[in-house]
Amino acid sequence: MKTILDFLNAKHEKKKITMISTYDYWSAMLCERAGIDCILVGDSLGMVIQGLDTTLPVTLDEVIYHAKAVRRGAPNTFIVVDMPFMSYQVNRDEAVKNAGRIMKETGANAVKIEGGEEIADIVEKLVSIGIPVMGHLGLTPQSVHALGGYRVQGKTEEEKKRIIKDAKILEQAGVFSIVLEAIPSKLAEEVTELLDIPTIGIGAGNKTDGQVLVLHDMIGIFDKSPKFVKRYMEAGVEIVNSLKKFKEEVEREEFPNSEFTYE
Ligand code: KIV
Repeated sequence: MKTILDFLNAKHEKKKITMISTYDYWSAMLCERAGIDCILVGDSLGMVIQGLDTTLPVTLDEVIYHAKAVRRGAPNTFIVVDMPFMSYQVNRDEAVKNAGRIMKETGANAVKIEGGEEIADIVEKLVSIGIPVMGHLGLTPQSVHALGGYRVQGKTEEEKKRIIKDAKILEQAGVFSIVLEAIPSKLAEEVTELLDIPTIGIGAGNKTDGQVLVLHDMIGIFDKSPKFVKRYMEAGVEIVNSLKKFKEEVEREEFPNSEFTYE
């Protein structure tokens, strides 16, 4: 199993890091089989699994439930678990208690929290008690209402300066890596060069130290995907075709034939 030191070394050896967001046993098993470096049990499960519009309603118990299944599917893969909205923002004691539950109950290797300067003291505290933390800057979905929607961040000079400042502060506070979401490629490159810790991009160009995609997006489960998603297959179409075939064969009494029947 990889450790945070492997991710730091990967940056210095210029070896790209791969991370996939996924939420259950079978998909984690396939990620491990494919040699993916890191699985994120993202709070994107609110949208992907629960069909919500935002990640805000996702609870600590829900991420713990999913992370346990992911750990069973990928016993040898580094797993990061998202701390849901309001599970770390209230104060450091709450953050410690909730991150502690994630680590104890799921067997995860690290937690991820969104934000910059405003959460630096929480990062410091978690790292000081031995919990590795991944940061998340740029489009931080838990702040969707404050950001005015799911919009590319870091386009104005002011936003750029804030993202660069926050990245340095997070590194100083002890995060072992930072997700950069939906920011211009040039800015992601600048942040990546400034830091000793690896950056993992999503919608942030190809100059970050690694890339993350949501599994269900990259295998084409949903009809539409954002610009930054490459659809490596059209699993949604394949699944619907299989379901239609099953329905037809059952209706025509072709399934199950003798091949699939006990004598
Ligand atoms: O929740 C998630 O899956 C994420 C990634 C998209 C970075 O935060």
